[in-house]
Amino acid sequence: MTVATRYRSITDEATSVDFESAVLAGIAPDGGLFVPETLPTVSLDQLGEWRGLSYAELAIEVLSLFIDKTCVPRADLKRLIDASIAEFFSSEVILHRPLNHFPGVIVQELFHGPTLSFKDIAMGFVVNLLDYFLQRRGERRTLLVATSGDTGPAAGYAVKGKQNLDVWLFYGAGFVTDEQERQMTTLMAANVHPVRVRESENGSDDLDHLIAQLVADRPLHKKLQFSSVNSINWARVMMQTVHYFYGYLQFADRVGQPVNFAVPSGGFGNLCGGTLAREMGLPVGHFIVANNRNACLTELFERGLYRETDVVNCPSSAIDISSPNNFWRYLYFSTGCDASKIKTWRDELARCGEVQFDATTMAQYRRGFLSRSIDDRRTRETMAELYRREGYLIDPHGAVAFTALLDVQSDLATDSLSLCQATAHPSKFPRVVADALQVPILECPPAAFHASLEHAKGLCQLIYECAHKDGFASIKQTLLKFYQPRP
Ligand SMILES: Cc1ncc(COP(=O)(O)O)c(C=O)c1O
Repeated sequence: MTVATRYRSITDEATSVDFESAVLAGIAPDGGLFVPETLPTVSLDQLGEWRGLSYAELAIEVLSLFIDKTCVPRADLKRLIDASIAEFFSSEVILHRPLNHFPGVIVQELFHGPTLSFKDIAMGFVVNLLDYFLQRRGERRTLLVATSGDTGPAAGYAVKGKQNLDVWLFYGAGFVTDEQERQMTTLMAANVHPVRVRESENGSDDLDHLIAQLVADRPLHKKLQFSSVNSINWARVMMQTVHYFYGYLQFADRVGQPVNFAVPSGGFGNLCGGTLAREMGLPVGHFIVANNRNACLTELFERGLYRETDVVNCPSSAIDISSPNNFWRYLYFSTGCDASKIKTWRDELARCGEVQFDATTMAQYRRGFLSRSIDDRRTRETMAELYRREGYLIDPHGAVAFTALLDVQSDLATDSLSLCQATAHPSKFPRVVADALQVPILECPPAAFHASLEHAKGLCQLIYECAHKDGFASIKQTLLKFYQPRP
């Protein structure tokens, strides 16, 4: 087994940093994304030995392949992982639900963390890891987080009360649900600052640009020491490889049997974790990339076109995203780890607003992928159908993945096994559930509610607000006003 020790940028071969520097910086000096110089591999024998491990035990094994023991000793790694799942609502962390009427399909429930989405799985660990490094160095960081609804709550919750971290959570007014907004605004922690950005047209994509402007302000950056826990941070993607290994080992009849994964996708961070697991040796049959009407990834996989378009509002609002940043990491590995090629394509995107990939490149990255864009009506119909036939309430993102999986069945091997990821708890989207089941909200089934969200309805909210057009100037001023040097 190889272990990754050094990290480089996907657009600059010359960068070479250790794990700690890659995680603390978030993004490489040239603006590229960090990846390991050598991707570790896992043999089928090794996979066989991992069968029967709990999620936490497996996470230690997988992460040890990416983290040098001299940087994080194994005992510390175990402590950090344990702490990051301690507040999950299920001690198993990830639950799996086989379905009666859909043989071969298992729902992989990734939403049992404290803020009820799959983001908790990696976020808790990454924040604990950052805090561990910062305490050791006696340093602080200011995290800037753009959210389409779930990253923000996960980051706020994980950062609350951490001595060496502050976090600013930016969300577009109207682009997140009331439940998601309350998760960010009721934390009442001195180091968590939620910012509602009015009049943004493209939700979290616009906010990414706002953050890029703040980070580009060198004096501000120097003073506040910005970093990121969005999935541009390598550690997020690294942690998101584990649930693919875990789901596989729970359900493959024998090690070596290919298993499919249907994944509701926006920024491609979750799926990037899956592709890395496959690259390392996990026997994946197909990945099914499931988009809502924001079909950027489907365009990429079906037509070879990378194009950032305007975002439209869908019931699965957390995947209303049109810039799949982590696709570039996957592209780097699938096309032969050529940083200069990636740089050329990214420069073209910045210059022309789109990139049309050639047939050879497209064939390379399409290997083992199927993709579908699912409209709003079918998303709701799937939610209603699953509830009617199985008594199972799935969130709109899981429903997008489930519908895509049903649509590609004829392209999958007969009798194949598929894990369909449910990435959020349905209670984060009560209006969508009510619409889908065609009942008033208060008559929705108990699974449409969660005690933590009901509790938040009675709490005070703290919200900073600005308009998107003067976002940079007004946020800069606010950041400086609230910045307090600590001893
Ligand atoms: C509930 C939910 N599902 C799916 C996604 C998509 O994940 P990714 O952006 O990693 O593709 C997100 C994140 O934005 C999410 O919050």
